[in-house]
Formats: sequence, structure tokens, C-alpha cells
Amino acid sequence: PLYQVIVLAAGQGRRMKAGKNKQLLEIGGKTIIERTVDVFESDAWCDSIYLVAHPSELKLMKQLASQYDKVKSVIPGGKERQDSVRQGVNQLEQNLITFIHDGARPFISHDELHRLYIETEESDAAFLGVPVTDTIKQIKDGYVETLKRDELVAAQTPQAFKYDLLKRVHDYAYEHQLYATDDVALLEFLNQSPSYVEGSYQNFKITNPEDIQKAENMLKINGLDHS
Ligand code: CTP
Ligand code: MG
Repeated sequence: PLYQVIVLAAGQGRRMKAGKNKQLLEIGGKTIIERTVDVFESDAWCDSIYLVAHPSELKLMKQLASQYDKVKSVIPGGKERQDSVRQGVNQLEQNLITFIHDGARPFISHDELHRLYIETEESDAAFLGVPVTDTIKQIKDGYVETLKRDELVAAQTPQAFKYDLLKRVHDYAYEHQLYATDDVALLEFLNQSPSYVEGSYQNFKITNPEDIQKAENMLKINGLDHS
């Protein structure tokens, strides 16, 4: 088994309100983006890593990336997340199963990566997610509808595709200027469906200021604190 991964770090982290890219904040004495890349660098199934960075942070990210053998290139990202993914897709060098991962999710595990890989070999595209714990309500035109919780999952990353399919969905979306908030959602434009792989609640996305403390606590509990 061998996959390549696009790690996204080109966002602004507005909700974090840190005055800088949230992925450059440290948890347990190490930046979030380094912790995320560490997981792939140390996974024997990972062949290569493509890091997508904000154009203004390209130099800094290249410096960080120089410590890793598997990082093939550091690529400037785009306006929306999907634009950043596209920049990464266009730089891929091999026809391998391809993962797309948020740099802001440092707690992904090798076990989850391997289960995702195996499912993608079977079914062409797959994503990690978890059952929702809150009851989700849809509010439309002032009318509230309660959705069936046992039919809902929260999508995480990585999301994975066979290379040809990834290329096809991204080219299609670009041609028709279609946007979605995650990668496997693009399959819906082609009337295709990904497989769901149940992941873990630990693989949360560091988004809000409170998440920094939550992340620090998780490092302590799991003994991953390198500070
Ligand atoms: N991302 C990216 N390019 C963009 C927007 C987002 O590479 N134009 C990346 C982020 O760096 C992050 C991941 O996509 O790793 C998920 O996005 P999100 O958590 O929303 O991060 P930000 O967009 O940076 O944060 P915010 O929405 O709070 O501004
Ligand atoms: Mg965002």
C-alpha cells in the first residue's frame, strides 16, 4: 500500500483570532502543521507529501518542510479551500491513491489512515467521519426541521480518491465553477458516492481559541507532549 497526501495549510484561521495562521501556533511546544506532517512522515504507507501554503508564508513553510524527506513540494494555495486543493492536485507527480488532509487536524492516526486506504482501494473514494452527537436541526425560511440523528455523520479529513477520479472531479468542478465545502462532496456533481469510514472524535479540526487548550490536554493524556 502506498498513497500520496495533499496537506492544506493555506487558510487564514480567522475563527482562531490569533492574528496569524492557526497552523503556526504551537501545541506542546511544536507547531500544529509540523505535528500534522509528522504523522504522514512517520507512516510507512505514505509515499509523498504535498504541502499547500498561503502565498505570504511560502518561505516559512518551505523552511519547516525541509526537515521532512517525504515533502515533495510546497505549493501556494488559493482563495477558497477548494482552490488550494486544486493547486495541490495539479502538482501531483504519481498515479497513486491520494489523500487530502486539513493541516489543522494533527490528531489523525496511522490506524485511521490505513483503514481509509483499504476502503479507497475497494470503492474509489472514501472519507473519515464520526456519528454526530448533537441533534441537528435545519432552519429554512423560519421553519425548523429536526434531522434524523442516526442518519447523520460529521465529515472529517483525510478524504481519499483514486488519482484519476480525483483529477476528474476537480476538473469538472473547475470547468463548471462548482464549489463544495469538502472534497468528496464534489462527487455528487457526477452522481457518485464515496464510502464512509468511521474515524475517531480525536481527529477534530483545530478551529476556535478553545480548541488550543483541548489539543494541549489531548497531548498530555496521550503522552505525546514533546515540550
Ligand atoms: N485552507 C486552505 N486554503 C484556503 C482555505 C483553507 O488550504 N483558502 C485549509 C486551512 O489551512 C485548513 C483547512 O483548509 O487546514 C480547513 O479549513 P479551516 O479549518 O476553515 O481553516 P481556515 O480557513 O484557515 O480557518 P477560518 O475558516 O476560521 O478562517
Ligand atoms: Mg475556512
